Amino acid sequence: MEKDLSSYRKSYEKHELLLKDVPENPMELFQKWFLEVDQFFPEDETNAMTLATIGIDGYPKSRVVLLKKYTYEGFIFYTNYESEKGKAIAKNPNVCLSFFWHGAERQIIIKGTVEKIAENLSDGYFESRPRGSQLGAIVSHQSEVIENRTILEDKLKALEQELEGKDIPRPKFWGGFIVKPIELEFWQGRANRLHDRVRYRLQPDYNWEINRLSP
Ligand SMILES: Cc1cc2nc3c(=O)[nH]c(=O)nc-3n(C[C@H](O)[C@H](O)[C@H](O)COP(=O)(O)O)c2cc1C
Repeated sequence: MEKDLSSYRKSYEKHELLLKDVPENPMELFQKWFLEVDQFFPEDETNAMTLATIGIDGYPKSRVVLLKKYTYEGFIFYTNYESEKGKAIAKNPNVCLSFFWHGAERQIIIKGTVEKIAENLSDGYFESRPRGSQLGAIVSHQSEVIENRTILEDKLKALEQELEGKDIPRPKFWGGFIVKPIELEFWQGRANRLHDRVRYRLQPDYNWEINRLSP
């Protein structure tokens, strides 16, 4: 099988990113871009981001997770702490997040270190989830091999009956992580492949160094 993709070509011409316009704090630029994409290109699933970890087998692995909150401190997502990514993070908390918002021709790449959020915050978010998602989180031993789908569905049904009318407690193996950034790169597609790239790097005095990078 073979398919030549050399004629696939797109020119990026919608926006620009100039050093004179960027704020001192990268989270403010993140917020500006996030809100713009969310408003004008909602089909981009704005809060879907790729999380890359260094696996315990030494290989990097990336997968999509949903950003559920951001603050000046960092980016929060929820998952199973015992999943492949959970185990990778326990061994090496250095991770990379990336967003590709194709409607706006933008990419953001974030390096950082990740840690579990406080238990009460995970409890609060778990409580806010629909019942079906709560039960799903309990029955799925994420990333483990299972014989077939029926096993999962049977476990879900049994648990639904067992917990009918009762509150569903958050399982200890499920909760939030926060990625605290040390570097953020904002990429804005431009014409003739002369894209804009602005990189922020956290300095020892907690200020951000800002540089333009060659595309
Ligand atoms: C759009 C989208 C959103 C997802 N959101 C999450 C999420 O928020 N948390 C999560 O654990 N997995 C999420 N997943 C599934 C992950 O990509 C992945 O399959 C799962 O977390 C297991 O990854 P691991 O085996 O590398 O740990 C999402 C997948 C997609 C495509």
